[in-house]
Amino acid sequence: MYISYTISGRSEMVTRGISGFEGVSLSSHDSGSATLLSVRNLRTYFHVGGHPVKAVDGVSFDVGVGTTLGIVGESGSGKTVLSRSIMGINTAGNATTTGSVQYNGSELIGKTRRELRHFWGEEMAMVFQDPMTSLNPVVRIGRQLTEHLRAHKNMSKAEAEEVAIQLLTWVRIPEPKQRLANYPHQMSGGMRQRVCIAIALACSPQLLFADEPTTALDVTVQHQILNLLSQQQVERKMAMVLVTHDLGVVATRTDEIAVIYAGKIVEKAPTASLFSEMRHPYTQSLFWSIPKTSEPKHTRLSAIIGRPPNLAALPVGCSFADRCPYVQPICREVEPDLQSDGGHAFACHLPVGSAAADVALSENAAAGLAQSQSAAARRESNAGVSS
Ligand SMILES: Nc1ncnc2c1ncn2[C@@H]1O[C@H](COP(=O)(O)OP(=O)(O)OP(=O)(O)O)[C@@H](O)[C@H]1O
Ligand code: SF4
Ligand SMILES: [Mg+2]
Repeated sequence: MYISYTISGRSEMVTRGISGFEGVSLSSHDSGSATLLSVRNLRTYFHVGGHPVKAVDGVSFDVGVGTTLGIVGESGSGKTVLSRSIMGINTAGNATTTGSVQYNGSELIGKTRRELRHFWGEEMAMVFQDPMTSLNPVVRIGRQLTEHLRAHKNMSKAEAEEVAIQLLTWVRIPEPKQRLANYPHQMSGGMRQRVCIAIALACSPQLLFADEPTTALDVTVQHQILNLLSQQQVERKMAMVLVTHDLGVVATRTDEIAVIYAGKIVEKAPTASLFSEMRHPYTQSLFWSIPKTSEPKHTRLSAIIGRPPNLAALPVGCSFADRCPYVQPICREVEPDLQSDGGHAFACHLPVGSAAADVALSENAAAGLAQSQSAAARRESNAGVSS
């Protein structure tokens, strides 16, 4: 698709492809299954005291051109560190990243910041989790946008300003020209997040990381921002990695979902099959914690009992064992491998839906394990609703 913008103040209308403000059309990006990003066995450990904090611990996945991958997990599961490690923007001096990140065939791990700079903005960009910390509070919005454009696109001041206005229009900021003079604190949270999206889209990246782009926004604005991102993604044929703690957010906006727990992918599948054939107990717990309009009034939301493990002292075996309704002795002895059933991968000894899992749940509930009693009650009430 070729989207045009006009630069006023010129004798002629200038029309350019949005894939680069230098005349490269996005139509050169093939949508489909060609691999754009390939991550293999990625690990980022933070060295604190004697024990490494294993924030990302052997993660592998691919992202196809123009497709969307959802990365879902609770707070502290490693989502932000994973995205930053892929982009090479982990600034912590105590971090070590190993493994492989291939972007369009180029290996990024081991590149210097100077070498990576070529990829930032024009190839990969990120909408950060907190717009207030990613925008400079003492610099006007207009300057933050135009400086970015001028640095990457070698534009004149006037040209960059026209493009900045166009970008603010794309992200639906009213009176964009006037808004260029605003400081971040003069805008609402939703508007600041739109500005961050505009900055990330400014150089028309082929891959966008959106890290919890709607945290701290009310539900209506959340929907607007997510719809805006999805729309821009489709129009630009841009691939996107949408990071969130909310499985509901990625349900309708992704091609594939990777569920991450304690720095590892525990389940990964095309979106439809993840929901129709959920295999990992953690994914099921996340799913049960989403409010659903189909449920009867006053249905209790199921919080996941317990807390994620300490990443500097992970237990032997499965990291979810202390919270899992299906837990069995083997889970505390042997760490489950990520096994693939067709395109659906999961790491669990007793996958949801298996006969062994059903027996384990009944036994655990009878033995008084709180999470098992809650899961058994939940399953019964679901069966009641569907019958
Ligand atoms: N510089 C650091 N030194 C030590 N540990 C760190 C550092 N940065 C991050 N961590 C740890 O890495 C783990 C993963 O953090 P990360 O920010 O990726 O979580 P997250 O899944 O993005 O959580 P949230 O949903 O709250 O944003 C956390 O336990 C965090 O404390
Ligand atoms: S059944 Fe066992 S292996 Fe599977 S998630 Fe639960 S504790 Fe982990
Ligand atoms: Mg985060």
